[in-house]
Amino acid sequence: MADKKIIAVMGATGAQGGGLIRAILSDPSGGFAARAITRDVNSDKAKELAKLGAEVVAADLDDPASIKKAFQGAYGAFCVTFFWNHFSPDKEIAHATTMAQAAKEAGVKHVIWSSLEDTRKWIPLSDNRMPTLQGKYKVPHFDAKGEADEVFKKLGLPLTILLASFYWDNAIYFGMGPQKGADGKYTLTFPTGDAKIAAIAADDIGKCAYGIFKAGSEWIGKTVGIAGEHLTGKQMAAAYGKGLGIDVTYNPVTPEAYRGFGFPGAEDLGNMFQFYHDFEDYFCGARSLATSRALNPSLKTFDAWIAENKSRIPL
Ligand SMILES: NC(=O)c1ccc[n+]([C@@H]2O[C@H](COP(=O)([O-])OP(=O)(O)OC[C@H]3O[C@@H](n4cnc5c(N)ncnc54)[C@H](OP(=O)(O)O)[C@@H]3O)[C@@H](O)[C@H]2O)c1
Repeated sequence: MADKKIIAVMGATGAQGGGLIRAILSDPSGGFAARAITRDVNSDKAKELAKLGAEVVAADLDDPASIKKAFQGAYGAFCVTFFWNHFSPDKEIAHATTMAQAAKEAGVKHVIWSSLEDTRKWIPLSDNRMPTLQGKYKVPHFDAKGEADEVFKKLGLPLTILLASFYWDNAIYFGMGPQKGADGKYTLTFPTGDAKIAAIAADDIGKCAYGIFKAGSEWIGKTVGIAGEHLTGKQMAAAYGKGLGIDVTYNPVTPEAYRGFGFPGAEDLGNMFQFYHDFEDYFCGARSLATSRALNPSLKTFDAWIAENKSRIPL
């Protein structure tokens, strides 16, 4: 343990960080040790990570001193922000700043920042194809992460920017899988027309991040996008149908209709899906399947993800 390189992992009890912790711990001869950062070391998830062999430490992004302490002595830091916990892009930028400064102070040798595109580089605020949200964003949960890239870069950190993609797991946690209508028939609703969606099994994000840490200097100073597959809504509906043994029809609503669904974050997600659609070639092109598989040879296909999660997908 003592001679292993410590990776300090934000969001260790969550999807991205959890995948990384499990990837580190399932490779005991890999030369890395996992430091799981959580606000509550006594939660069931935190205790589970400790049982698996992670060093579990308490820190809170709202308390910069605690993050500085949590990064001390670490070789690597996996940095991610938690938009859906607060819906505030400005808070994401503040939290990214906290992590970047802590990594600088701790002299971390490799930082992975889990980012997304600042969509305003493609769709300036003056472009009315989609509404401006929260006064200065098009896709708030993307734009703030992309804007925060500069915070890490300005500090001159040894940085890899990781562009994640849509989690297939959103079907389990956010009702984004097949939905049963009043007529008993299943539909899969995305406002992406015939465009492909770059998506991934959430657990594979951490496994790819582990591949980046393992490759060391090869990825420092670079941006890498990852995805498990690029599939259209129609292809995803067919895969759900086959994997779950039900009929699923793709329901390609307009982004405008999606923004009007009224659930918290519907406008943000409507804009995000419109960005996927309008910039399909860029978005999928920036998330190479071959690179993702090279970083993580066990990268799952959508069919494999469905087979593994069959019992967890609410129908
Ligand atoms: N869903 C998608 O399709 C998708 C795709 C790409 C990117 N993303 C991005 O992924 C990010 C979320 O990552 P995730 O899905 O891995 O998270 P998650 O599964 O929702 O878990 C939330 C994590 O946040 C930690 N956390 C919350 N507030 C914290 C704070 N103040 N200080 C320290 N830790 C805190 C929690 O840790 P404790 O409770 O243990 O403290 C927990 O580990 C979001 O910003 C989202 O935009 C999502």
